[in-house]
Amino acid sequence: MDNKIFLSGIKPTGTPHLGNYGGMLRSIIEMSKTRKGFVFIADLHSLNSIHNSADIKQHSYECAAMAIALGLNLENAVLFRQSDIDAIYKLNTLLMNVTPKGLMNRAHSYKAMVEKNTESGTDVDAGVNMGLYTYPILMSADILLYDSDVVPVGADQKQHVEFARDIAGYFNNTYGETFKLPEPIINQDIGIIPGLDGRKMSKSYDNTIQLFAPSSELKKKIMRITTDSKTPEEPKNPDESTIFQLYKLFATNQEIEDFRKMFLAGGMGYGTAKTILFEKMDAVLSGPRAEYERLMNNKSEIDKILEDGAMRASAVAEKNIVRIKKAMLG
Ligand code: TRP
Repeated sequence: MDNKIFLSGIKPTGTPHLGNYGGMLRSIIEMSKTRKGFVFIADLHSLNSIHNSADIKQHSYECAAMAIALGLNLENAVLFRQSDIDAIYKLNTLLMNVTPKGLMNRAHSYKAMVEKNTESGTDVDAGVNMGLYTYPILMSADILLYDSDVVPVGADQKQHVEFARDIAGYFNNTYGETFKLPEPIINQDIGIIPGLDGRKMSKSYDNTIQLFAPSSELKKKIMRITTDSKTPEEPKNPDESTIFQLYKLFATNQEIEDFRKMFLAGGMGYGTAKTILFEKMDAVLSGPRAEYERLMNNKSEIDKILEDGAMRASAVAEKNIVRIKKAMLG
């Protein structure tokens, strides 16, 4: 397993929050310790929803700084900006022609928009641009361009990786073996990260906790987490508690087991549980937070890392795009 090449993208649509951290970032950082891979800031993917270059630029720096501050191994992992790679635009165009339209109709994010529009009685395609509709093709181009073997993603992205495999399969059937079929890797034990109100943590629900919020703000946010009305004495169900779910992201297995027992035994109020969560998170995040702040105050350092990454990624991409173009166009 260890010489398999991994690849994943981080979409810069907002300031990083705990939901981003839980999904796949931790797996990528872990993987980068022992194997080679590609990690990129998927700025082209944010274009279908953000039409302001300054915002995309800022969030791209934040995402890159987050990955570096959390310890991504930059020797093993090539960190780069998606839009810096010329071959990605080319492969996107080429893959359009082997991708059935029906496949795009089935994409979850497009279907969700259509359903929302249908419910509200507007035109089915209202608010859908072609960037959103063809999102899975660009994502397939990302996945197929660098000869990756495994793609760590959050559960919400599994369908997209399956589409990349489908598209690679159509291509290979028509033009001969050209692409590897990479496997999605989904961290099953984490599941969906709940936000302050217990729903999935998401910018659109306004229930996020920023990953690198200053200590005092982190504490305030944690104290606002919604709980049920059980008294301190009553036993509590850890698996239904946002506090416990968030603790699991930061604690060791032993600590998680101990905290679970404290929930089940009763005698611990939610206030105490929140303080335990805060102290754990603050301890784990204070080093990375300082490094994140340092990098955000030295953006030229991030630029250098991304430029170096773009050169390394381009070397692979340029070689492959010649081969792919030849298969299709002779
Ligand atoms: N679509 C992914 C997300 O929204 C980001 C992404 C873009 C990606 N290209 C990728 C993830 C390729 C894995 C592989 O989170």
